[in-house]
Amino acid sequence: MSEQSNIESILTESRVFEPPQSFDERIGGAYIPSLDAYEELYKRSIESPDEFWAEVADELDWFEQWNTVCSSDFPDVKWFEGGKTNLCHNCVDRQINMGHGDDLAIIWEGEPYNGTPEIRQLTYHDLHAEVCRCANALKELGVNKGDVVTIYMGMVPELAIAVLACARIGAPHSVIFGGFSSQAIADRVEDAKSNIVITCDGSWRRGSVVPLKDNVDVATELTELIDTVLVIKRCNNDISWQEGRDVWWHDICDQQDEDCQCESMDAEDMLFLLYTSGSTGKPKGIMHTTGGYMVYTYLTSKWVFNLIPGKDQVYWCTADVGWITGHSYIIYGLLPNRVPTLMYEGAPNFPEPDRFWDIVERHKVTQFYTAPTAIRAFMKWGDEHPSKHDLSSLKVLGTVGEPINPEAWMWYREVIGNNACPIVDTWWQTETGGHMLTPLPGATPTTPGSCTRPFFGIDAAVVDDDGNEVGENEGGLLVVRKPWPSTLRGVYGDRDRFIDTYFARVDGMYLAGDSARKDERGNFWIMGRIDDVINVSGHRLGTMEVESSLVSHDSVVEAAVVGVPHEIKGTGIAAFCTLASGCQPSEELKDALRKHVGEEIGAIAKPDILKFTDALPKTRSGKIMRRLLRDVAAGTDSNQDVTTLEDFTVLAKLRDEE
Ligand code: WT7
Repeated sequence: MSEQSNIESILTESRVFEPPQSFDERIGGAYIPSLDAYEELYKRSIESPDEFWAEVADELDWFEQWNTVCSSDFPDVKWFEGGKTNLCHNCVDRQINMGHGDDLAIIWEGEPYNGTPEIRQLTYHDLHAEVCRCANALKELGVNKGDVVTIYMGMVPELAIAVLACARIGAPHSVIFGGFSSQAIADRVEDAKSNIVITCDGSWRRGSVVPLKDNVDVATELTELIDTVLVIKRCNNDISWQEGRDVWWHDICDQQDEDCQCESMDAEDMLFLLYTSGSTGKPKGIMHTTGGYMVYTYLTSKWVFNLIPGKDQVYWCTADVGWITGHSYIIYGLLPNRVPTLMYEGAPNFPEPDRFWDIVERHKVTQFYTAPTAIRAFMKWGDEHPSKHDLSSLKVLGTVGEPINPEAWMWYREVIGNNACPIVDTWWQTETGGHMLTPLPGATPTTPGSCTRPFFGIDAAVVDDDGNEVGENEGGLLVVRKPWPSTLRGVYGDRDRFIDTYFARVDGMYLAGDSARKDERGNFWIMGRIDDVINVSGHRLGTMEVESSLVSHDSVVEAAVVGVPHEIKGTGIAAFCTLASGCQPSEELKDALRKHVGEEIGAIAKPDILKFTDALPKTRSGKIMRRLLRDVAAGTDSNQDVTTLEDFTVLAKLRDEE
C-alpha cells in the first residue's frame, strides 16, 4: 500500500455496509440497535454529560460517592471528584461479590506449540488469589501507595496479575513493551523515579527467547534507581542473579496471604503512567487516573464490542499489554464486563501463519480486535491459512492503531468475517485512554477506511487553527472540544510539554495531533499525523527519537528520519545520515547503525531504509527538507539500493531553485 494510493482510495470510497439486522444468540441484542438510537443518545450525552456519565458510573462499585461528575475544563480535567473506588476491585472482587467467582476471567495461551497448546484459564476466584498474593508481595518488597512500579514482561498471565496488583495497592504502574531496549527501560525508570522492576527471565517470540531479565540487568547499570527486580520464571533460560536485588516471583508470591484489601483510591489518584513518543526525542509519560478511566473504558468496551456476560462470548485483543490498547482493552475495560479476555503470548505466524485463526477456532472467539498491519500481513501470507479454520464464532471485528486501507478492510470483512461481522475501526490514542471515533456494531453503517462517528460524550471536530470548523470533506486539525472521562491528566513531570503539545495550538480544545476530514454523512476520516510522529505497524515513534539515537553513534554527525510507505507496516522508517570524517559508507556500517538503534530504542525503531549522504537537503534557514527526503525514500523500494549523493544533491538543488 502506498500512502498516496490509500489517500486516493479513501477519497473515492463510497461503499456503505449496513450493520447486521440482528446478532445471533451469542451476541444477543445490540446495546445500541440503530443509527437513530445512537443519534438520540449521542445528543443526550453531549447536552447532559453529567447525567449520562453518572448513570454509567453507577453500574460500577464506589466506596464513596462522588460530589461532582465533571468539575473542570481543559487542561485541568477532573471527573468524579470526591468519589472513592478501586479499579482492581471493579475488575475482580465485584464479580465475585455478585456471585460470578467461578466465571472465566482470563484465558491464556502460550506460544510454544508441540501438538497441544499450553493453556491457562483463570476464574475470578483464581485471579483474586493471584492478584492478592502479588499485591502482598509488592508490599513486602516495600512498595507503598503512590510508588511507581515498572513492568517489563512478556504476555504471560502474571503480566495482567501484576498490573491489577499495582492497582489494588494504589501503586501506579509503568508498563514498558517487552520489545524496548535496556536504554529505553532506564530512561523511563529515571523519568518515573521508579525503584522496582517486574520482569520475566525471558519471553517467547517465534520460538526463541527474548532475554528480558538480561535487558533489565543492563538497565540497572544505566540507572541507579532500580533496587528490586521481581522475576517470573517463564522460559527457564540462563540468567544472572544478584542477591539482595533480584527476587523470584514464586519464592515471594507463593507464601503470601490470598487476601489483600483494596486501597481506597480517590477518583483522581493516578492509576498508571504509559510512555509514548512525541515530536521531541524524549518519550513522555502519559498520566491516567482512576475513576474516569475506569468508567470510560468500561462503557466503550461494552458498547463497541457488544460484550454481554453469560452468553459464552470470548473476546480476544491481539495487542500487547505494553501498549494502551492492552491496558484498556485486554484488562481494565474487559474484566468489569465479565466476558473472558484472551491473552496470547506469541507471534501471529508461529509455528505456522494460521496461528491466530487456529486460536479463534479452538477458543470460539466472538469478538476479535487487531491492527491493520497484522491484517495486511495475513493478506500477504494467503487466504489458505484462515480458510483452513472454522471462523464462524466471530461476530464483531475490530481494528486499531493506524488508518486501515480499504483493501485490507474488505479482506478482513470478507475472508475473516465472512461478510457477516461488522467492522469497528476505532480511532483513539494513548492520551485518550479509550475509543473516541468508532462505529457501534449494531448501529453504524460503515465505509472502508473511515472510523465513522464519535463515541458518546465525545465532542470531536475538524477545525482550523482558530478553532473554527472547516467545511465538509476539507482537511483540518482533529480536536476534541470538551473533556471526556479518560482524558490524559498530564505528562508526568512536564506541565509545559503537556500544555504545549495538546492545548496551545487551538485555544480551549484538545489537539489530537492527527489531521482529518468529515464527510457529508458525518463520518470522520483520519488523514495522518501533523507532527514529527510516525506510525510504524501501529506503534508510535518520534522521528527525533530515532535521529538522536543515530547521532549518538560515533560515526554519525547528522541524521534525518522520515516515514516511508511500507506494504505491511503502513509506514516504514527511512534514515539519512551524514558521516564523521574518516568514516566510510558500507553495508557493515548500515548494519551496525541499525543494531545501534535497536539497542538504544528497540527493534521496532530500526530503519528499513538507511542512506548515507554528504549533506542533508536544507532550506536556507537550515531546516531539513523532510518532504524531499520522503520523496527520495518513497521512490526507492529496497534498502540494498545505494542512492548516490549526487542524485540527492541534484534533487535538493532542483528544489532549491524552484
Ligand atoms: C495514533 C495514536 C490507540 C491505540 C493504538 C495507538 C493513529 C490509532 C487509528 C485508527 C487511523 C489511528 C493516530 C493516533 N491511530 N488508531 N483507527 N485510524 N489512525 O495508540 O500509540 O497512542 O497512537 O495512532 O495517528 O494519533 P498510540
